[in-house]
Amino acid sequence: MMLKIENVTQQYRDVYAVKEVTCELTQGIYGLLGPNGAGKSTLMRILVDVLKPTKGRVTYNGKEISILGENYRDILGYLPQEFGGYSHFTAQEFLRYVASLKGIDSRVAHEKVDGLLELVGLCNVKKKKLKGFSGGMTRRVGIAQALLNDPLILILDEPTAGLDPSERIRLRGILSEISKDKIILLSTHIVSDIEYVANEVLLIKEGELIQKKAPKELLAALNGQVWTMVMNEDDFLKNKQHLKLVNASHLQGQVEIRIISDKEPHEQAVTVEPRLEDIYVYYFGANDVV
Ligand SMILES: Nc1ncnc2c1ncn2[C@@H]1O[C@H](COP(=O)(O)OP(=O)(O)OP(=O)(O)O)[C@@H](O)[C@H]1O
Ligand SMILES: [Mg+2]
Repeated sequence: MMLKIENVTQQYRDVYAVKEVTCELTQGIYGLLGPNGAGKSTLMRILVDVLKPTKGRVTYNGKEISILGENYRDILGYLPQEFGGYSHFTAQEFLRYVASLKGIDSRVAHEKVDGLLELVGLCNVKKKKLKGFSGGMTRRVGIAQALLNDPLILILDEPTAGLDPSERIRLRGILSEISKDKIILLSTHIVSDIEYVANEVLLIKEGELIQKKAPKELLAALNGQVWTMVMNEDDFLKNKQHLKLVNASHLQGQVEIRIISDKEPHEQAVTVEPRLEDIYVYYFGANDVV
């Protein structure tokens, strides 16, 4: 199975939401990582054929997805970034309803729905109306609906938004369990969501695909460039804007910093093993470290 993206471009007036993206996705889990506005959702909407790109094409096993049409939708599961509405349905009713839209036989659907409610941990609230659900619970209903037709291609736009840490971990487990025969693409700006689970990470910046590598390879490329050191608050404040800062922990007038630098920033600085969070700062910068 292969989803092939060739020169895909989406232009809005003078803004390129997605620009000349070319890559191939085969079985496995892919993490699409990029800051707000990078083009993640736009690329995903193109991949699920709800948006026709300005330029370029997407093929599944050699056939254009827009021509495959219904046949493509049959093997597709999609969680949009904005998933909601249907507040008068209970979780179970909603999933049964989506199942019927997807043409799943009602007896099969009933079993499938209950299995999925169990999988995403919503069994005990399946008879509750969606309008009473928290953000994380709604997200989990969204994940369940994307899985209803046992999709070969699963596109999840920020599936972990609003999930608490234990739910994030549970989702990672579910994804790796079901990934054997699927192409799974999930977007996030939270590095830990994909650090352990993704076979490959796709970094997207201003619409362009700037890296597509296994997490290990991305990390190896940063070897020797991640440093920590302790400095006093005054020096830190003076130098802050020149540092590519991953983290700063303040304690008792001192600051322990973690920075990216291709040369030794200070004689007291020591190199440390890169983490995916460092990769994020390296490529996208960090503007919320204080
Ligand atoms: N329908 C549209 N009309 C005009 N501009 C758009 C439209 N959709 C997206 N954009 C622009 O395209 C760019 C990419 O948006 P997109 O929603 O794909 O980013 P994203 O990576 O999903 O961001 P986020 O992390 O905030 O969800 C942004 O600059 C956005 O403003
Ligand atoms: Mg988005």
